[in-house]
Amino acid sequence: MLAVAAVTQSTDDPLSGLHVGDIDEPPVPEDWVSIDVVTCALNHHDLWSLKGVGLPGDRLPMILGCDAAGQAPDGAEVLVYPVISSPGFQGDVTNDPRRSLLSEVYPGTLAERVRVPAGNLVPKPEGLSWEQAACLPTAWLTAYRMLFTNAAVHPGDTVLVQGAGGGVATAAIQLAAAAGLRVWATSRDAAKRDLAKELGATETFESGARLPDRVDAVMETVGAATWSHSVNSLRPGGTIVISGATSGDAPAKAELTKIFFKQLRVIGSTMGTRDELARLARFVADKGIEPQIDSVLPLAQARTGFERMAAGDVGGKIVFRV
Ligand SMILES: NC(=O)c1ccc[n+]([C@@H]2O[C@H](COP(=O)([O-])OP(=O)(O)OC[C@H]3O[C@@H](n4cnc5c(N)ncnc54)[C@H](OP(=O)(O)O)[C@@H]3O)[C@@H](O)[C@H]2O)c1
Repeated sequence: MLAVAAVTQSTDDPLSGLHVGDIDEPPVPEDWVSIDVVTCALNHHDLWSLKGVGLPGDRLPMILGCDAAGQAPDGAEVLVYPVISSPGFQGDVTNDPRRSLLSEVYPGTLAERVRVPAGNLVPKPEGLSWEQAACLPTAWLTAYRMLFTNAAVHPGDTVLVQGAGGGVATAAIQLAAAAGLRVWATSRDAAKRDLAKELGATETFESGARLPDRVDAVMETVGAATWSHSVNSLRPGGTIVISGATSGDAPAKAELTKIFFKQLRVIGSTMGTRDELARLARFVADKGIEPQIDSVLPLAQARTGFERMAAGDVGGKIVFRV
């Protein structure tokens, strides 16, 4: 089948290890189902895998991808929930120490077919296109949990979204605006700041710019490049939720003094639960939210999407049609 895989890894030239072509179809484990993928989407996670972050080299070749929407064997239209728990684990799967995402241990979604545990399916919301549906399982789920589970923000609160152009960031802007929050967003790029406004941001700022007021919560995925700004932008008692560190995980200043003196909360966030994905899907459908898509490419042209993401040149999700 046609699939997109990591065959080698390189920090400096991650795309040198990208294979787009025919791959033997992996077997379907017991109690798992094979989904015919209609659309799948790219995440920064796929670039990290090509760089050797989070995917040990002895698991190569590995089919990449965490996001998919498609058809189940019974014909149902579904979203794939990509978090795989360890056998017998009970409770919030994001706290399972041996959980994995599709493409870390089990082959991922950037393929004609993907195998998942039968319980890892969520109905595709009616009214969402296949392309929009493929955006939800990773970036949108992450943004949903960051805002509503971990920051626990309320309508009227002000939330700052760093790095407005990214998949998680555009999702956070759209979800926060739909939930009645005042959304401020930063980006390095003027066109992405304009996009953020179109998506519902109240105000936008250049990365690192001094804000007119302190915010209640910051959605942080950029990491080192924006960390000090995130700490400095919070009101006393405010919350940073961090789910990524695209620009690196070693900021020049950890800002420890400000964190304790202002009694800030720093909360790590990873993906979300299957129930959160189901609630997200309902919220997006009920509110008529249209997930921001940067571009749609045939799966066979996946390399172009990877190149755009590696260059930091995205405004929303890059989606592949199978
Ligand atoms: N923990 C989790 O479960 C989880 C889930 C999803 C994603 N993540 C992580 O969250 C991060 C974002 O993921 P994504 O899929 O949204 O990625 P993406 O679509 O590639 O977005 C990355 C964004 O980072 C921003 N950025 C700002 N300064 C940067 C710099 N100096 N270098 C590079 N990028 C910079 C850019 O925004 P501007 O150009 O607008 O400034 C860019 O659009 C990744 O690190 C990813 O691994 C984690």
